[in-house]
Parts: sequence; C-alpha cells; structure tokens
Amino acid sequence: MAEEAENSIPVIAIDGPSASGKGTVALLVAKKLGFHYLDSGSLYRLVALAAMRSEVDLDDEKALSGIAADLDVSFADGEIRLGDRNVADDIRAEACSNGASRVAAYPRVRGALLDRQRAFRKRPGLVADGRDMGSMVFPEAMLKVFLTASPEVRAQRRYKQLMGKGINANIATLLQDIRDRDARDTNRSVAPLQLAAGANLLDTTSLDIQQAVDSVLKLYAEACAKSAPKPS
Ligand code: DC
Repeated sequence: MAEEAENSIPVIAIDGPSASGKGTVALLVAKKLGFHYLDSGSLYRLVALAAMRSEVDLDDEKALSGIAADLDVSFADGEIRLGDRNVADDIRAEACSNGASRVAAYPRVRGALLDRQRAFRKRPGLVADGRDMGSMVFPEAMLKVFLTASPEVRAQRRYKQLMGKGINANIATLLQDIRDRDARDTNRSVAPLQLAAGANLLDTTSLDIQQAVDSVLKLYAEACAKSAPKPS
C-alpha cells in the first residue's frame, strides 16, 4: 500500500504493563469501532513457545530472530494457530509469559516482528496493544494511550482471571511476577515500556472494564474532532 494511503488509516495504540487489562480494553474498543485488533504480546509469546518447543536456547538471539522471522502464525475467530495447532491457551502459561519477556529484550527479535505488526494496519482502522505500539511500531498513531493500574490491583485481576479458569494461583507470587516483569520490560535498553510522546495516561486502578473502554472511546472521539478539517 502506498505510504500516504496507509498513514491515513487510523491507529489507536494502547500500551501498558502486564495485567493492566489493556488487552481486554483494546479488544472491546476494536469491536465497538469495527476496527482490526493486534495483540502484539502474543507474537513475543509465540516466539518463546516455538523456541521452547524446538529446544532453542532463550539466550540465542540469532536463532530466536530466525524463529520470529519465520513464524507460521494465523489469527482468526479467537484462535491463534502456530502451524496447524491452536495455541491460544498455551501461550498464556506462565512459562511463556516469562519466556516472552526474555525474547522481547533482543533487538533482532523485535526487528523481525516489525513488518508483521505493521501489516495489521488495514481499513477501517486498527487498535494495537503492547509496550511499544505508540513509541516504535506506530509512532504516528492518531491516539496513544498508556493504560496502567497499581501492581496490587493488577495481581488481584490476574488472580481472579486464573481462578475463574480453575487454575490455582497465589497472590503473593503473582505480585512478585508482575513486579519482576515490569522491571524487565521497563529497564531493557531496546523499546522499553514507557509513556510515548503524546500518549494519554489512563490509570484504571479504580475503573472497571467498561469505564476504561468508555474513557478510550472518549479520547478517540476527541482525537477525531481535533483531526477533522476545520470549516473555512
Ligand atoms: O502483553 P503481554 O503480557 O502478552 O506481553 C508478553 C511479553 O512480551 C511482555 O513481557 C512484554 C513483551 N512485549 C513487548 O516487549 N512488546 C510488545 N509490543 C508487546 C509485548
């Protein structure tokens, strides 16, 4: 697609730390607007899963970037297929969460996933969630939101989510995992988790999902009004 035409497709970039609820919020905003949805974290999780399955060392940047470039992945109707297997649940396991955070620290892995992420930008628009959507992947996004909540509230949300799926969890361990992952994602030298220039901070500590979705939709309506041509 010509660059100019592509740049006219609206992108809403939603970044934030683990378990902030950004995935749920981004998906609901995309549904409401009829936009496409990119869960960029799933790509890092897929690289980690594919590496672990083929016994590639999670410290081997060269091999990992090859896996990232060649990922045979398709997304459809809530399924995430790696080859011919639906791995939507497998990539949510804690081992994959930790593996994803490790592989995501490698510049060559991130570079190998860049075009794949940008290819999600299709009409009528895209809602993309991750850590660097507003800073690196879609720096010209028409709306950038940094969605966060306190670590304690995020640990509680993750706890409820896991218990709801019948998976046993310990809140203290979850809180420690969240703090460790925040530190890794924030302190890495390449594309660290950060408030992108021009991003709107949305703290959802005391908001429920619907309130968070409504806040993003309101910000989007304001951004549309700002970018609409002024009557002369
Ligand atoms: O959003 P998530 O928890 O599914 O992300 C999994 C890991 O991938 C997380 O540790 C950070 C990393 N990630 C990233 O570095 N950049 C992104 N755009 C998305 C996720």
